[in-house]
Amino acid sequence: MPTLSTDLDQALALLRAGELVGIPTETVYGLAADAANPAAVARIFALKGRPADHPVIVHIAGAEQLSDWAREVPDAAWKLAEAFWPGSLTLILPRQPWVTDAVTGGQDSVGLRAPAHPLTHELLCRFGGGLAAPSANQFGHVSPTTAAHVVQEFGDRLPLVLDGGPCRVGVESTIVGLLGPVPTLLRPGGVPAEAIEAVLGCRLQHHKKPETAKLRVSGLLDSHYAPRTPLLVGPIDAVINEAYRRFEAGQKVCLLHRSAAPIPLCGVDLRPMPDTAEAFAQQLYATLRDCDGGRYDVLLMEQAPDDPDWLAVNDRLGRAASGRV
Ligand code: TXA
Ligand code: MG
Repeated sequence: MPTLSTDLDQALALLRAGELVGIPTETVYGLAADAANPAAVARIFALKGRPADHPVIVHIAGAEQLSDWAREVPDAAWKLAEAFWPGSLTLILPRQPWVTDAVTGGQDSVGLRAPAHPLTHELLCRFGGGLAAPSANQFGHVSPTTAAHVVQEFGDRLPLVLDGGPCRVGVESTIVGLLGPVPTLLRPGGVPAEAIEAVLGCRLQHHKKPETAKLRVSGLLDSHYAPRTPLLVGPIDAVINEAYRRFEAGQKVCLLHRSAAPIPLCGVDLRPMPDTAEAFAQQLYATLRDCDGGRYDVLLMEQAPDDPDWLAVNDRLGRAASGRV
């Protein structure tokens, strides 16, 4: 089993030796390697089973390191870093020429984020450089929000997971592309799009379909964030009817609902979910993991409100779900 600890000395020694370490962030846990060491970054891809042309985010201590990694830092980037770092916002900027293709997936840009988790912030301050870190899950699987989830994903193949407790935000960072004239929302996440627009004083462009977009963002693949058990999402009445039908057909069913109204079903496990977007996001991945792994034939989830607050949750549910009812 990997060591679970809060020992930054051990983490630093491993990272400097080109090894991988599981790190807590306020969004999800990351699988970190020295971003300046291509062999170390290659280990991330091997362990995750992730295709080599998918770029990874470089985590830094703060805005003072932006120019180490980005060759141009537009005003918008300084403003956003000032407003939201350390925090759940990733900026895509033109890369410095020395930034390795292993990190950028061969693109001319680099994703940069200063995470807010105090343990990892301290780690980054002491490390001095950048840590390449995707979410610490097998490619395509649900992201981890506790140290124990990271152990479930990789077991002995990872020497150390820094244990920073459960992630406060629970969904990945918001990704904003700053490569063209108009800032682009590439992935909704921990920082609401409206808060970003308020700081920029302009609307964010929303990304085009990934097939036609120039940027390759692996989080935009439809199969992402998925539990292995089929997950179907729909309005509460439809979900209840589907649960009943499947129970009658002999299936083991878990129904995840936000509604407080009593649900007239026996033989179906009921799982209440929070009814605010923030609390829902915080619990989403942990709940999907908990319900996964063969206990049920199907997970049926009440859909989330179609409201700007719920943008990140709806995005992840859309990718995690195998269909609608
Ligand atoms: O909250 C988060 O962002 C977490 C924590 C660990 O920081 N990280 C995370 O990493 O979600 P990952 O690899 O699972 O997703 C990062 C996304 C990917 O979709 C990747 O393609 C995109 O960031 N990305 C990274 N660098 C990029 C670049 N240069 N251009 C476009 N997209 C980029
Ligand atoms: Mg991921």
